[in-house]
Amino acid sequence: MFTEENLKKLEALKKQYPTSRALTLPALWLAQEQFGWLSEDTMKYVAEQISVPFNHVYSVASFYTMYNKKPVGKFHIQVCTNISCQLLDSEKMVEFICTKLGVKKNEITSDGKYSVSEVECLGSCGTAPVLQINDDYHEKLTAENIESIIQSTSR
Ligand code: FES
Repeated sequence: MFTEENLKKLEALKKQYPTSRALTLPALWLAQEQFGWLSEDTMKYVAEQISVPFNHVYSVASFYTMYNKKPVGKFHIQVCTNISCQLLDSEKMVEFICTKLGVKKNEITSDGKYSVSEVECLGSCGTAPVLQINDDYHEKLTAENIESIIQSTSR
């Protein structure tokens, strides 16, 4: 269930969008902000709230990598491995981060603090390689600055 505050936000969003289907992305985002990820039950709830078929909500959520279809860590590290970042060794950076944190890709550390995943283009190709931790971008990654970026999450 959405919180009272999020129900109010959803009602406000309904006035801003011309159709229920157009509301799918922000409604899913609202749900992810509240629940941390989108379970099938959450997607069904969102579908009911905006009066669209569940399969529509499911197809939208499964298309976009920014929607978490599994639980994620408190710090969700998303590394772009699309072409610009890949050419600058972002796949090796994923391996480095996973080794450093002792976690496999798409899994959560045992303390629930970190999860690591590869994502499609983050829209910042000019500053590749790029990763995102929760809502924050970190660009022009190097082996050295990745360490300090990860350390900064423990402060
Ligand atoms: S390819 Fe990585 S940000 Fe675009």
